[in-house]
Amino acid sequence: MANPLTRREALLGALTLAASQAVRAETAAVAAVAMDAGVQFGSAFDREVFSDAPYRALIAAECRAGALENSLKFDWLKPRGSKPDYTHADRLIDFAQTHGIALRGTALIWNDWEPDWLKALSRRDAAYVFDQHISETAGRFAGRIAAWDVVNEPFFPLHGRPGGFRKGVWFDALGATYVERAFRRAAAADPKALLILNEAFCEQNDAWGTAIRPLLAGLVRSLKDAGVRLDGVGFQGHLKPHLPHDYSAFADYLRGIAGLGATLHITELDVDDSSFPDAIPERDARVAETLTRFLDPVLRVARLRSVTLWHLSDRYSWYRSVPWYGDAVAKHGGRRDRKARSHVFDDQLRPKPAWAALRTAFEKARVR
Ligand code: XIL
Repeated sequence: MANPLTRREALLGALTLAASQAVRAETAAVAAVAMDAGVQFGSAFDREVFSDAPYRALIAAECRAGALENSLKFDWLKPRGSKPDYTHADRLIDFAQTHGIALRGTALIWNDWEPDWLKALSRRDAAYVFDQHISETAGRFAGRIAAWDVVNEPFFPLHGRPGGFRKGVWFDALGATYVERAFRRAAAADPKALLILNEAFCEQNDAWGTAIRPLLAGLVRSLKDAGVRLDGVGFQGHLKPHLPHDYSAFADYLRGIAGLGATLHITELDVDDSSFPDAIPERDARVAETLTRFLDPVLRVARLRSVTLWHLSDRYSWYRSVPWYGDAVAKHGGRRDRKARSHVFDDQLRPKPAWAALRTAFEKARVR
């Protein structure tokens, strides 16, 4: 293996093996249950799998599918210039292959997290980098990446751009046609990977979600009409239970998207727990209940093919590093300095009620 374990890691691994075997006996079947329901299951992960042996074991045991949280993003591959650094991506992809985890790469194109050198380019040069990045990246990993989020988060109506598109370097260089262009290039560079259009917020029934849903459906329809190879549509599913939502209506919306000729994927599932009480048992119960309410109708949608969590454990919660989490908690009367518990394993890698909820939802879906 490219990364031999240090003695300390090996020892830690051995010590935790007994404990984690008990956990795994209880948990390893989730992906199998999901598979019986026709759904590939897994989680996002990244470089922490190399420094945290117990977590590495958990990811290997739980995931048959997965996504690299960051290491294939433009700003992580090319932080200082167009010369890529593939070191981490290569190691992570090797790790996934060793453990039979089918990986989704996210994202070839995203109008966010653009490095300064990219923002400083002329539109013409940015368009060149756009084409080159897709061909180079999708081409290099062809055969090793099962699916690509070709475009992430196309819409952001608040930006005031025509068509509701998210502004950013790529949109500003190419206009709304950037999406079609990205898919055509990705298809040419990797004829076998599943090509996905990934979007956020669609499960919300607030002004934001209801604005985005028809925009996304329209985009899928126009790509299909143009003969573009678009295999799947991804829905992030960072659930915000404090916002208006109707997950049955969302499931109907998914059926409509499937009717346009795309498979369906829940790509970044977790629960924003900022509105839930500080008390851990109650908070954990509410996170679990939110997952149940979401998954029950969604797993009944026939063309749903994968569910990927946005991290397995609270230990690596991205909500713990976003600047707005403390404010959101305080707004709902909670302690600003508390830590998010948005995921299905706790900080000690013990399964939480959310894990049981997930498993039960897949069990019910098996007989759908
Ligand atoms: C987030 C990662 O979790 C963070 O570590 C990173 O700093 C920023 O990106 N929607 C997406 C994901 O599409 O790529 C984001 O991931 C979370 C929101």
